[in-house]
Amino acid sequence: MIVCQCNILSKAEIEAAVEQLLAQDPWRLIVPSTVYHAMRMRGRCCGCFPDVVEIIGEVTARMRPGEAGDG
Ligand code: FES
Repeated sequence: MIVCQCNILSKAEIEAAVEQLLAQDPWRLIVPSTVYHAMRMRGRCCGCFPDVVEIIGEVTARMRPGEAGDG
């Protein structure tokens, strides 16, 4: 599923980038620009950013048990 039309980025690619960032530092603050910078891309229209924020939340909750109010 393509999330970012401007950069032709899929949800899986964004998830992988967030996972990599969290693997480097599990407690770093990740925002969409952090993810795009890590992928050597940048937001253009930034219309995808709300979806990217949601993906960051999903991956963070998965990689940091207890962070999403489940514990
Ligand atoms: S859709 Fe992602 S920057 Fe435009």
